[in-house]
Amino acid sequence: MPTIRDVAKLAGVSVATVSRVINDSAAVTKETRDAVMSCMDKLHYSPNSIARALTSKSTRTLGLIIPDVQNPFFSAIARAVADTAEQYGYTVFLCNSDGDADHEINYLRSLKTRYVDGLIIATRQVNLRETRGLKKSGIGMVFLDRAVEADSAYSVKVDHYQGALLAVRHLLAVGCRKIAHISGPLFLNTAHERYKGYEFLMKQADAFDPSLVLEGDFTVAKGFELTDRLMKSNPDVDGIFAANDLTAIGALKALLRLGKRVPAEVALIGYDGIEMARVMEPEISTIAQPIYEIGATAVHKLMAQINPGRSRDFREQLEPQLICRASTQR
Ligand code: RIB
Repeated sequence: MPTIRDVAKLAGVSVATVSRVINDSAAVTKETRDAVMSCMDKLHYSPNSIARALTSKSTRTLGLIIPDVQNPFFSAIARAVADTAEQYGYTVFLCNSDGDADHEINYLRSLKTRYVDGLIIATRQVNLRETRGLKKSGIGMVFLDRAVEADSAYSVKVDHYQGALLAVRHLLAVGCRKIAHISGPLFLNTAHERYKGYEFLMKQADAFDPSLVLEGDFTVAKGFELTDRLMKSNPDVDGIFAANDLTAIGALKALLRLGKRVPAEVALIGYDGIEMARVMEPEISTIAQPIYEIGATAVHKLMAQINPGRSRDFREQLEPQLICRASTQR
């Protein structure tokens, strides 16, 4: 097994120089770096990342815990986090928690044993005691999307109350009067904020009817099931605000299965801005979240924590955008 000494001897440099090349130190000229890398290739030498971590006190790895990797919103988040982390020279461990608190705790502990330098977590459930323990161990942490309520928690989220106002105002503007809301799981702040925006505008229009609010789970299947139930008991509903695009896709399937004309009889709007909503027929209007920016901003905030000169701006709130498509164009 070739060693760092074999590389140094073949390249005609010191072991310290080879170590600086491995740790991407700026104190190495391009010529020296290229020569050392060429010798590493010739000898099929690969640096021992554990040994490197012990000397540099950094594994240059991050952990990302998301609740549903199959949801295109979160897979797009994961893509943005991985791309941005790579720009800083970091690798990302992706963990899918299924939104289960025990899963999240187990992943947090497992990532801690792997000495990740930082964590990005989309959760509502992990308890702050656990995360405070991690912070004490020097691991940087940013909450994403489903920000936990704590003064010292770094978080990146979107103004979902404003997003809901955009959605419902749009349905009212295209002539809807009996508007239903298929929410996400209301214990999640992201779903609850969207519901509160819907509730506010419907009450303002003196048209709030709690029987037109059905609690979903952000999935296609539940969107289909609840829309089918809703329309059979309220056939005069003429607008639906779905709390995410997967729910809206399920709702569209149910509406078409019932023979409803979209948007002529029922206008439909979703939330997130995933590609799948755009390729449906009719294309589904949505409130787009700046998904890539959410993931990238979370990494930038984490890097600001890990590296000297810790930034003090704990919270970052981004804005959603109305995307009008065929499902609401009357
Ligand atoms: O589609 C998944 C939903 O869960 C998104 O709206 C996102 O905000 C998250 O809360």
